[in-house]
Amino acid sequence: MTLEQIGAQLREAIGLDWESVGRSALHYAVRQRMAASATPDMADYARLLAASAEELQQLVNAVVVPETWFFRDPKAFAAMTERLATLPATRRPLRLLSLPCSTGEEPCSLAMAMLDAGFAPSDFTVDAVDVSTRNIAEAERGVYGRNSFRGTALAYRDRYFEPVPDGHRPRPEITQRIRYRYGNLFEMEAAVPYDVIFCRNLLIYFDRDRQQRALQRLYRLLGRDGLLLVGPAEASLPRLHGFAPVRAPMAFAFVKAEENMAPRGAAVPRAPVPAAAAPRPLPPRRLRPVAAPGRAPLPRGAFASAAGAQVAPVPAAAVARADAGQISLAAIEQAANEGRLAEARDAASRHMQAHGPSAQAFYLLGLVCDATGDAAEAEKSYRKALYLAADHREALAHLALLLRRQGAADAAAALDDRLQRIEKRAGR
Ligand SMILES: C[S@@+](CC[C@H](N)C(=O)[O-])C[C@H]1O[C@@H](n2cnc3c(N)ncnc32)[C@H](O)[C@@H]1O
Repeated sequence: MTLEQIGAQLREAIGLDWESVGRSALHYAVRQRMAASATPDMADYARLLAASAEELQQLVNAVVVPETWFFRDPKAFAAMTERLATLPATRRPLRLLSLPCSTGEEPCSLAMAMLDAGFAPSDFTVDAVDVSTRNIAEAERGVYGRNSFRGTALAYRDRYFEPVPDGHRPRPEITQRIRYRYGNLFEMEAAVPYDVIFCRNLLIYFDRDRQQRALQRLYRLLGRDGLLLVGPAEASLPRLHGFAPVRAPMAFAFVKAEENMAPRGAAVPRAPVPAAAAPRPLPPRRLRPVAAPGRAPLPRGAFASAAGAQVAPVPAAAVARADAGQISLAAIEQAANEGRLAEARDAASRHMQAHGPSAQAFYLLGLVCDATGDAAEAEKSYRKALYLAADHREALAHLALLLRRQGAADAAAALDDRLQRIEKRAGR
């Protein structure tokens, strides 16, 4: 048995394409588990893994990337509350899902955004689901350190958290809205569909087949007029599987396509499973949730908030037709957000021809290349952004993620350190 075969078991269980986290990251996690289970031989360990759902869960806990922070991509939360505010009050309590929720920062942000937007606590519930029992245990413990609070807009911390010896704890008005539980996206069922699903920064770890199956499942979990939000590097995917983008720059938000196309007042057809392909059987092996062991803090980078260019919504302009001089960064963001990636990439290049190189344009170009799977170009673009603005936190954050996915853990850690220094200098 080889490392690749262990990787294949992980793919079957949770969809993880181990190449997306990098061979060295997988190797490191496997070595950790071999030591913890007193199984020094890799072939023996692979046999143990095949026989023990508990050990498989432990390996999942060791290998997943828990990276997250409060209000990651703030515009996603604004897009959610703006849309929910338009629904009739009879729809309440609204059902929100954060999957994957990692260590809880995202579901807490959902609850804070809802309360900030004027919803009453009884108007909504948040289901928070993750396949890592370790992350769920952390989320339930609910004590957050500096890395969870990034960026400059931190007033929410005073409103919704109380200081505790090793960090900050969300107040009961937040935690009471959230129900944490272990769950695997590929096995998720919901008796009542959700009004909002945050499925952010998960699809990037899947291969194409698993991305398709994941989106088919999300489609079924989402209500007819529900909102799906994905991560910046995932914005091209929902369109391929029955979703249509919502015009909300940098929110990466989608609705079901046929709902979007229905004329106003017309009966909306029952949402079919997207035509792409009949869902395949569920992965045969179910993980057995195990109690999270005591552990050292998970390795996390220090990333900045997505407080890049603050752009006003623009019409879904035909960016492709615009003169280079007229292309704005906002229009590029919007094209990228709506999954029109070739258009966004072209527009970013033309923007730079017209206006000269800028860190923000290179950063956007990097995001677009990242989303299309062109890691080499993405890396170059992030680096150019950093050449022009050494403290461009989003470019640093995304470059670190990219390098980590490629297995360059040391280089990613160096960027994390750089980010931490920037954050420290800025007094955060
Ligand atoms: C990078 S975090 C994303 C957290 C949050 N959504 C965000 O964007 O900040 C990825 C999370 O996905 C979880 N995960 C991986 N595979 C999963 C699966 N098949 N089902 C549910 N969660 C999964 C991992 O345990 C990890 O906590």
